[in-house]
Amino acid sequence: MGHAVDRGARHLAAAGVQTARLDARVLAAHALGRDPSFVLTHPETCLSADQAAAVDALYARRVAREPVSRILGEREFWSLSFRVTGATLTPRPETETVVEHALTRIRACGRENEALRILDLGTGTGCLLLAVLSELPRAQGLGIDISADAVAVASGNANRLDLAGRARFRVGDWASGLSGPFDLILSNPPYIAAGDGAALPPEVRDFDPPAALFAGREGLDAYAAIAPQVARLLVPGGAVIVELGQGQEAAVIGIFQAAGLVHDGTRTDLAGIARSLCCRLDVRTGLQKNVGNEGEPV
Ligand SMILES: C[S@@+](CC[C@H](N)C(=O)[O-])C[C@H]1O[C@@H](n2cnc3c(N)ncnc32)[C@H](O)[C@@H]1O
Repeated sequence: MGHAVDRGARHLAAAGVQTARLDARVLAAHALGRDPSFVLTHPETCLSADQAAAVDALYARRVAREPVSRILGEREFWSLSFRVTGATLTPRPETETVVEHALTRIRACGRENEALRILDLGTGTGCLLLAVLSELPRAQGLGIDISADAVAVASGNANRLDLAGRARFRVGDWASGLSGPFDLILSNPPYIAAGDGAALPPEVRDFDPPAALFAGREGLDAYAAIAPQVARLLVPGGAVIVELGQGQEAAVIGIFQAAGLVHDGTRTDLAGIARSLCCRLDVRTGLQKNVGNEGEPV
């Protein structure tokens, strides 16, 4: 087995895979139905012809730059396992910044045990909504996606994570047709400029769904579509937290301010990039727009 992994790692490295040895080990383990630590600690294990062919088939997919998570069909996010398919963006580590941001705000307001209503726009695998719900025992959530296949994956993930009782998923064009209100709205919308596709790594360009990546000439179209809907759906004092593309903070603040929201904090990811932006519905604005909905800050 050790020879197969060495050979695979060489092929993966030659194909430009940065984590060639790790990937070779993980993929061999997956093909053999074993743990990656077994592959590391038992290199002397002999492979049958069928096993060797199964390992090579996975290496061929990775050489074509298919992401490991797509080959395995799952990806860890917020220490939870999410099923991923060709219909869903593979959850990214930097998106955990949005989860941290939301939970920090809710806990700072002492509202972590309340029955908060949370909306996730562009839910994909459901990772943002389900991660937040996993930490808030009484909160309920609705996830929306334009892709029916993504909605099916998100619903399946809610079942797998035992959160289906508090999470619903629905096909929709952002928040069109929703009436709310919501205490918190989350979104990791597409934010890559249409002309930037060629510069993306093959794992992203060739395997993530285009609807999850691109948002018009400057990458800002989804924020512009979401902002007025958010202002209509939040309770007074409610907050929206969105993921940002690199360098988009000022432009996105401007978009939300134009919709009547106030900027209320930005968090950076582990690379120091402004990644998660919070805007709040000013209480006076909210009272005008959501007459009769009592709101508390989130
Ligand atoms: C960047 S992905 C984020 C997925 C997931 N929330 C995550 O963080 O991994 C953006 C998602 O928005 C969805 N989307 C794109 N346009 C949409 C629209 N008009 N209405 C609803 N969802 C949309 C895509 O299908 C995709 O699942």
